[in-house]
Amino acid sequence: MSAYANRPLLYLSQHHDATLCRALSQRGWKISFASNLQDLEALAHSPQPCAALLDVHSGFSDSDLESFEPWLAHPLLSWIGIVASRDALSDATRRLLGLYFVDYYTAPFELAQLAHSLGHAQGMAQMRPAAQRETANSARPDGMIGNCPAMQALFRGIEKVSLWDTPVLISGESGTGKELAAQAIHRASERAQKPFVAVNCAAIPPTLLMSELFGYERGAFTGAAKRKLGRIEMAQGGTLFLDEIGDMPLESQTSLLRFLETGRIERLGGTESIEVDVRIVSATHVDLEAAIAAERFRGDLYHRLCVLRVRQPPLRERGSDLMLLAEHVLASVRKQSPNRIRGFSPTALRAIQQHVWPGNVRELINRIRHAAAMCEDGVIQPEDLELAAPVEERPMTLAAIREAAEQNAIVEALQRNHERLIDVAAELGISRVTLFRLMRDYKLQVKKGDLGLVCVQG
Ligand SMILES: Nc1ncnc2c1ncn2[C@@H]1O[C@H](COP(=O)(O)OP(=O)(O)O)[C@@H](O)[C@H]1O
Ligand SMILES: [Mg+2]
Repeated sequence: MSAYANRPLLYLSQHHDATLCRALSQRGWKISFASNLQDLEALAHSPQPCAALLDVHSGFSDSDLESFEPWLAHPLLSWIGIVASRDALSDATRRLLGLYFVDYYTAPFELAQLAHSLGHAQGMAQMRPAAQRETANSARPDGMIGNCPAMQALFRGIEKVSLWDTPVLISGESGTGKELAAQAIHRASERAQKPFVAVNCAAIPPTLLMSELFGYERGAFTGAAKRKLGRIEMAQGGTLFLDEIGDMPLESQTSLLRFLETGRIERLGGTESIEVDVRIVSATHVDLEAAIAAERFRGDLYHRLCVLRVRQPPLRERGSDLMLLAEHVLASVRKQSPNRIRGFSPTALRAIQQHVWPGNVRELINRIRHAAAMCEDGVIQPEDLELAAPVEERPMTLAAIREAAEQNAIVEALQRNHERLIDVAAELGISRVTLFRLMRDYKLQVKKGDLGLVCVQG
């Protein structure tokens, strides 16, 4: 018994069956009992891989059982059910048993058999792929996932800019999480209790953008039947998130600049000047400096918006975070899916790693959702993700392995040292001349001025 002493077991039932618990603890199980969702949430808050026993017919209603679903789907918990009789099961119970349970027993059952299954369930919970277990514990309160140096630098950047009440510009490719970052900045700032209002400047037709931003008075134009507040005014005291600011027409840019300079707006068709206190966080996937050079964006507005800057790294620069995100997305898709989804096939995993993800996290989410609907027998294949089958890699030569390791070490040292080449050279124990030569050989450039990731490959 000693090898099996203190195996954790989560026991969820409306009635604590003392005889069952005594018998299981004699077999080495350390039981945590929950009789409702609140208990379960408290117990399973940061779970270790463990077996879990749900007495389905101890009195739980279908809606009770459905409220347990996030925990039934939890990758660290391996569930065994106890039911009264198979014929009496409701459709909802059948669905949950089929999707999430390793096994179930119909009462009355042999204790030895149940104990045997619990042992297997515990083994299965420990067997879950490491990435699946990691993802269960790696989401931050703001929903952003990322362990790689580039994302850690981004999180530090977000923390720093949150302390200041100045405008922030978030740059990064589409789908990298700019809106999530804007929300995180708002939530970590002193304005957190006030509104966060988002405006997507690319999605609103240019003719409507002015009235969306500034609002209008009754009768301002045909169809203006009553006064409407603009988004700037709605964000009073809070944060105004101007998404895709690079697509804002010049006319609106001029009005926005006037607001930033005076802190006051006038609704369209109105004469009253209204004081509005908002913090502006803006985001863009276009190169604003190039847009200024092409006279599509006002340089003076850019300097007002870009007091602090955060850069979202593209997915292809996030190393093993790609798999962490893929497992995280799959875990949430699994909860909504009517089919039982077991996971990615090994070739699908390789295909995910080989794809360059031009649409970043948004593309990853869309492909996995699509795959969950299309896949057969619960295993996701490259074609379900609409990805090319992975190219089988030839074994690497020792020289190629050395080069890849060298390049990787330099990229990571650049990220850790925030592009300070003196520090990078010192950390790597090489001269600056050697560092320059290696960076040239590996086509690594350094881009100044961002708080986020600073090293680009190209
Ligand atoms: N680091 C992350 N962790 C988890 N989800 C993310 C992350 N980054 C982006 N997402 C998700 O990806 C999608 C696109 O993010 P979004 O902020 O809209 O991107 P962008 O504004 O840069 O186009 C959203 O569903 C978002 O929740
Ligand atoms: Mg966006």
